[in-house]
Amino acid sequence: MKALVAPSYGPLDQLVVTDVPKPAPGPGQILVRVETAALNPLDAALVVGAMREMMPVEHPFVVGMDASGVVEAVGEGVTGYAAGDEVLAYTHFHPGTIAEYTLVTEGPDVAPRPAGLDAARAAALVSTSLTGECVLDAVAGEAGQALLVIGATGGVGSFVVQLASRAGLRVLATAAPADAEYVRGLGASEVIDYTAVDTLKEALRLAPDGVDAVVDLISRGPALAGTAAAVKEGGRLVSTLMGPTEFERGVTVTYVRMATRDGRLGALAERVLSGDLSVEVTATYPLSDAPKALAEFAAGRYTRGKVVVTV
Ligand SMILES: NC(=O)c1ccc[n+]([C@@H]2O[C@H](COP(=O)([O-])OP(=O)(O)OC[C@H]3O[C@@H](n4cnc5c(N)ncnc54)[C@H](OP(=O)(O)O)[C@@H]3O)[C@@H](O)[C@H]2O)c1
Repeated sequence: MKALVAPSYGPLDQLVVTDVPKPAPGPGQILVRVETAALNPLDAALVVGAMREMMPVEHPFVVGMDASGVVEAVGEGVTGYAAGDEVLAYTHFHPGTIAEYTLVTEGPDVAPRPAGLDAARAAALVSTSLTGECVLDAVAGEAGQALLVIGATGGVGSFVVQLASRAGLRVLATAAPADAEYVRGLGASEVIDYTAVDTLKEALRLAPDGVDAVVDLISRGPALAGTAAAVKEGGRLVSTLMGPTEFERGVTVTYVRMATRDGRLGALAERVLSGDLSVEVTATYPLSDAPKALAEFAAGRYTRGKVVVTV
């Protein structure tokens, strides 16, 4: 089968679309014929080897972790799915999803694709919405509390803004001017143009005692100490990256690692189908152009939403 492959750790320009063996479903596994795969920042990090200590991969490495497609075959013991079912899946990047076929284990990593939800949006919502929910769990906010979201226009941020606003939080969201209406449409109460003003100073102007929580999807390491300055005493800082474990003024930090849970993926897909949540597919590339897709995505060509590859 054809797949987007990294022969070894190295720059993104080594990526090729080439033939690799078609996977076979083992016990409990589902073989999915991929219709659409979505790109994530982690895909590029795994290719270049930036995560090789924490998340080593085997080479040749088939890239991708989010997919939507049709069940081709099921392994022994699979009871909830059969050939022909439409699904969306998170494969933990092993094996990758930017390929004609991928494997997923029956359980919380896979869900039926609701009738009426197209494959592109289904693939685009997988890691983003699941991470968004994990982030919201860590925020543990109450209606009326103020939440600053830094990186609000990206895949994860767009879900954080939506989930937080649906939960009744007052959301302050960063966006470049061209994306201001987009984040307002997602549910942001106030938009901070991070390209023109200092995000943290502006957040403190809008919430003079500090916000109840900040979700920072951009800063890592010591830079997060700066972010914590926008949080009120005893408030919360939530990050999807890594940094210090202790902050001044009783600000607590949670470093979120996305996890799937029974029923969550299917429920999120239903919410997107119903229009309660939305996911924007910004660009679509064919599998033959997948190396270009990942290179352009990693270079920051797209300012919001998701980039997908159709297979
Ligand atoms: N821990 C986990 O389990 C987990 C899971 C998923 C993602 N992540 C990580 O979380 C981060 C976000 O992921 P993503 O999928 O949402 O990425 P993404 O789709 O690439 O979005 C990043 C967004 O940040 C914006 N941005 C860039 N610099 C900014 C700044 N200085 N201030 C405010 N906004 C800025 C970008 O908008 P512009 O185009 O306007 O710059 C873009 O919309 C990534 O680092 C990813 O690796 C971690």
